[in-house]
Amino acid sequence: YWDMKEFVDRSIKEIKEQVGDGKAICGLSGGVDSSVAAVLVHEAIGDNLTCVFVDHGLLRKNEAEEVETFFREKFNMNLIKVDARERFLNKLKGITDPEQKRKIIGEEFIRVFEEEQSKLEGIGYLVQGTIYPDVIESGGDENQVVKSHHNVGGLPEDVNFELVEPLRQLFKDEVREVGTILGIPEEAVHRQPFPGPGLGVRVLGEITEEKLDIVREADYIFRDEIKKAGLDKEIWQYFAILPGIRSVGVSAGKRTYNYTVALRAIYSIDGMTAQWAKIPLEVLEKISDRIVNEVEHVNRVVYDITNKPPATIEWE
Ligand code: XMP
Repeated sequence: YWDMKEFVDRSIKEIKEQVGDGKAICGLSGGVDSSVAAVLVHEAIGDNLTCVFVDHGLLRKNEAEEVETFFREKFNMNLIKVDARERFLNKLKGITDPEQKRKIIGEEFIRVFEEEQSKLEGIGYLVQGTIYPDVIESGGDENQVVKSHHNVGGLPEDVNFELVEPLRQLFKDEVREVGTILGIPEEAVHRQPFPGPGLGVRVLGEITEEKLDIVREADYIFRDEIKKAGLDKEIWQYFAILPGIRSVGVSAGKRTYNYTVALRAIYSIDGMTAQWAKIPLEVLEKISDRIVNEVEHVNRVVYDITNKPPATIEWE
C-alpha cells in the first residue's frame, strides 16, 4: 500500500532530521537489507556515514571484492573493509558444534565491528537494516528457536548509539523495490538469502581453510550453472555443502579417496517451509561434471531431495 518512491523521499527527509550533522556507522554484510539501508542513509547524510564491512573469510567466491567495488566505486561511500579472515579461522579452530560456531562467528563479528567503530571519532548513530519481519520475529518465543540466527551485521548490545532503522516498516519485496529506486543493480537487489555465518555453517563440523575453498569453488560452479540455465529467479536458494565425508572413487584408472559435495536447492516463500527444487537432470549432470573436474579433492556430488520440514534449509 506504500508508494515506494514517496517512501524513499520521506525516509531521506526523516533521516536528515534524525541525524542532522551527526555521524553514523553501518555494518555491511553484502545482503539486501543492510545494503539498501546503507545506500538510503548515504543519500540522506553523505560522507557522514561510514560503512564497515568485515570479511570473515566465510563469504562466497568474489563476494568481498564485489561489495567493495559496489559501495566504494558505484556509490562513492566511505567504506572500511576489515580483513578478519585469519582471526575468525583461529577462533573457530577445533569447534564442531553448529550452535557454538554460530555463536563464535556472531560474537567475533561484533568485536571486530566495535574495534573499528572505536577508531572513528564522534559517531552517534548506528544504521541497521532491520525489516518488518525481523521486528515481529524478535518478539517471538525463544524456546521455538531451531537455530540461533545470528545476523552478521547484528547489533552490539551495549553501545550508546542511537539507532537509525529506515526499513523497519517494510517487507522484503518493498525493500527490493526501494533498492531498485536507489539504483542498486538488479542482481544485488534480487540476491538469494545468505546466512550471516556464511560458509561457516556449510562446512559441517570443523572449519578449515581447505574445506572452505572446496565449498566455495563448488558453490561458485553451482551458481554459475543455475544462472546459465535461467533458473536463478525461480529457485529461492541454492548452494553447496561440504559434509566432510570422504568416499572411494576412481580417476584416470587410479583409486581416489576424496570429499563428497552436497547440493541443496529449494523453492520457498519465506524460508519457514521449503520444497526441494526439481532441477532438470541435464543441468544437475553438468554441475556435477564441472564440480568433480574443476574442484580439487572432490570425487562425488549428491543432491539433497528433502523438504523442510523435516530437514532445515541449511545443514547446520
Ligand atoms: P533453516 O536452515 O533454519 O534456514 O531452514 C532458514 C533460512 O534462514 C537462513 N539461515 C540463517 N540466516 N543467520 C542468518 O542470517 C543464520 O545463522 C542462519 N541460519 C539459517 C537460511 O539460509 C534460510 O534462508
